[in-house]
Amino acid sequence: MKIVISLGGSVIVPEEINKEYIEAFGKLARELHKKHELAIVTGGGRTARKYIEPAREFGASEVLCDLIGIDATRLNARLVSAAIGSEANFEPPKDHLDALKVLDFGKIAVMGGTEPGHSTDAVAALFAEYMKADLFINASDIDGIYDKDPKKNKDAKRQEKMSIEELVDLVKHKSVGAGKYELLDILAAKVIQRSRIKTIFLSGKDLDNMRNAIDGKKFIGTTINGG
Ligand code: UTP
Repeated sequence: MKIVISLGGSVIVPEEINKEYIEAFGKLARELHKKHELAIVTGGGRTARKYIEPAREFGASEVLCDLIGIDATRLNARLVSAAIGSEANFEPPKDHLDALKVLDFGKIAVMGGTEPGHSTDAVAALFAEYMKADLFINASDIDGIYDKDPKKNKDAKRQEKMSIEELVDLVKHKSVGAGKYELLDILAAKVIQRSRIKTIFLSGKDLDNMRNAIDGKKFIGTTINGG
């Protein structure tokens, strides 16, 4: 299969760098690479926000804050590449065409952000189009999509399934500010919709669960229908 994983910065750098996690993820990536074509797009997490917040207070434009965010995502891509080792690119590709060359070379493509105006989820969804991926995994610190914010509501219920139309509806009014994308950005949702990309939302922290989802076994998460 051709798989794209959008690996949220929240699992790579929740507060501090999660070294044990990154090491285990690197091992899983090498294991998956034996059977699958694999692309990983890393988010910026706390590092992006730590830099964006003071920059915004200095009066930096949103586009400059985005560029700072992109640097953070690329820094995380370097770390994930390092954890995977020689099966991944040495240098994070700057755009999708360079990332495709990495795949053509038989390696795992590990990249961060590309240009201002969206999050790494959009980069990952677009890359799923470029490589005609069979599966797009959105791995964050939440184990799926809930009917309410699970971090604020104890009675929030995880949705097992959701249509792509419902997902587009859910994210269309969400923030597009630098460092402030929640759940999924609208561009990513629209790309998933237009190309009907099979999409799963799950927790990036549970790597056994991620493996199960890829192997077509029972897993905890949300599957997007029509996606
Ligand atoms: P993230 O993709 O980590 O965004 O990129 P996020 O806000 O944390 O959202 P999630 O985790 O994907 O839901 C960090 C920041 O880098 C900039 C944006 O400002 C983004 O918020 N960025 C990232 C871009 O401008 N372009 C990109 O291609 C990627």
